[in-house]
Amino acid sequence: MGPLQIKELLNTSPEKQTVTLKGWVRTKRESKNAIFIALNDGSTIHNIQAVAGPGQFSAELLQTVTTGSCLKITGQLVESLGSGQTVEVKIDDIFVYGTADPDTYPLQPKKHSLEFLREIAHLRPRTNTFSAILRIRHALAFAVHQYFNDGGFFYLHTPVITASDAEGAGEMFRVTTLDLNKLPRTEEGNINFKEDFFGREANLTVSGQLEGELGAMALSKIYTFGPTFRAENSNTTRHLAEFWMIEPEMAFFELEDNMDLAEDFVKKVITYALTNCKDDLNFLQNRLTEEEKSKPQNERSLPLLEKLSFVVDNPFERLTYTEAIEILLQSKPHKEKKFQFPVGWGIDLSSEHERYLVEKHFKKPVILTNYPREIKSFYMKLDEDGKTVRAMDVLFPGIGEIIGGSQREEDYEKLLGRVHEVGIDPQNLWWYLETRKFGTAPHSGFGLGFERLVQFVTGMGNIRDVIPFPRYPKSAEF
Ligand code: 4AD
Ligand code: MG
Repeated sequence: MGPLQIKELLNTSPEKQTVTLKGWVRTKRESKNAIFIALNDGSTIHNIQAVAGPGQFSAELLQTVTTGSCLKITGQLVESLGSGQTVEVKIDDIFVYGTADPDTYPLQPKKHSLEFLREIAHLRPRTNTFSAILRIRHALAFAVHQYFNDGGFFYLHTPVITASDAEGAGEMFRVTTLDLNKLPRTEEGNINFKEDFFGREANLTVSGQLEGELGAMALSKIYTFGPTFRAENSNTTRHLAEFWMIEPEMAFFELEDNMDLAEDFVKKVITYALTNCKDDLNFLQNRLTEEEKSKPQNERSLPLLEKLSFVVDNPFERLTYTEAIEILLQSKPHKEKKFQFPVGWGIDLSSEHERYLVEKHFKKPVILTNYPREIKSFYMKLDEDGKTVRAMDVLFPGIGEIIGGSQREEDYEKLLGRVHEVGIDPQNLWWYLETRKFGTAPHSGFGLGFERLVQFVTGMGNIRDVIPFPRYPKSAEF
C-alpha cells in the first residue's frame, strides 16, 4: 500500500526498474558531472541517493531542492558505484511537494544541540537522532505488547481521569470545567465541587494501578500501558509531567514472582530492540562515542550496544533495603562525607545513593526490596516484622529507578489500617477496599516508566529527548 518505503527500496535488488521515491531532502551536492540528492522518508536511518545529470534539470527547479524540501522522484533503481550504499536512483523526474527556504528552515546539515532541537520539537523528528529514537520507541512499545500477549496478559485500559490519588503523593493535575473566575461556593465558603463536571474533585491519573488491581482480581494477569501525569515540580533529566507507564498486575504472584517477571520483561524488551533496531542503535552508539571523545578515558561509559547486552546477559543483583543501607554506610563516599544527603535506615534513597549502588558497587542492575513502610505507598503488603513492606525497586545504571512495584496488601483489616494511617478517606476508596472483602487473593504488580526505558536503550541523557513532545514545568508548547 502506498509507495515503497526507502527502507524497502534500499533492500531491493536493482534491475533498472522504475521506482518512485517520496521524502525529505537531507542534503544536495552538486559536482561537475552530477547532482546528488540524499532523500529520507523516516522509514530508516539510511538515506537513498538519487542522481541527476548536470544539465538535466533547470537551475530554477534545482534551486527549490534544498535541505528540508519534500520531493517526489521517479527514476530507475540501479546498482550504486559510490561507497556507502548498494543501490541508488537515476532520476527521470522531480516533483517538489514543498520547499524549505534555506534562509529560514532551522534544520541545516550540521550539528544542532539537543537544547536547540527541543525548541523546535515540531521539526526535530526529521533529524537522524530523533527519528532513530522514535523508531526505537515504537519498537519497544510493540515489544511490550508482544511480551504480555505471549505471556497470557490482557491489556486493560484504565481511566485517565480519576478521583483517587493512587500514589498518595498529591502531585496531581486537576480536571475541571468550573469557571475559575466564578467558582461556586458551599455555605462554608469552600469550592463546591458538586457543581463540577463529575460532581466531585477529579484529576489526571498518576498511575493505573488501583484500577489495574480490579482487573487482575478477575482476569488474573493484566497490564496497562498509558499516559500518566505528575505535577512534581522537578526539573531533572529523569522526570516528565506526562509520561507513559506500563503496569502489569498479577493475581497469585508473590514478591519473588514479581521480581522474576520484571527482570525477564525488561530483558526481553531490550533484546527485541537489539534484534530489530540494529541500524538505529549503531547510529546512536556512534553519536555517543563521538560525544564522549572529549572525556578522559576512565570516565567514558561502555559503548551502547555492549551496555545493553550486558544488562540482558547478567542476572540483576537482588538485596533488601536494609542490606543496601549497610553497604552505603560502609561506602567511601559516606565515610568521606561526599554524599549530599545523609544515609541511615529509614531514609528515602536519593539518586546519588542509588547510583552508587548500581554504578560503583554492583556495576549492574539492582533490585532493592523490603523498604520501610513509612516511605512507601499504603497498598504495599506489610512484612511480618511490621516495619517493612514487600516493595521492589529496579535500579538501572545511568537512570536510577526504572521500575517501582510491590506485593499488595490483600488483608482487608491491615489495608484499612494503612489507609487510616496515611490519612486517606476510606470512603473515596470503597471500591478498591471491596476487592479485599470479596474473594481477595495474593497479588503483585509493578510500574515501568516507559521513557526511562527508552532513555536507557537509546543512551540519551535527558528524558525530554525520548518523547516526541515533552511536558515539563513551564513547557507545553507543541
Ligand atoms: O514508583 P512509581 O511511582 O510507582 C507507581 O506508580 C506504582 N503505582 C506502580 C505499580 O506498582 N503499578 O512509578 C513507577 C515508575 C518509576 O519507577 C519510574 O520509572 C516512572 O514510573 N516514573 C516517572 N517517569 C518519568 N517521569 C516521572 N515524573 C516519573 N515518575 C515515575
Ligand atoms: Mg517509585
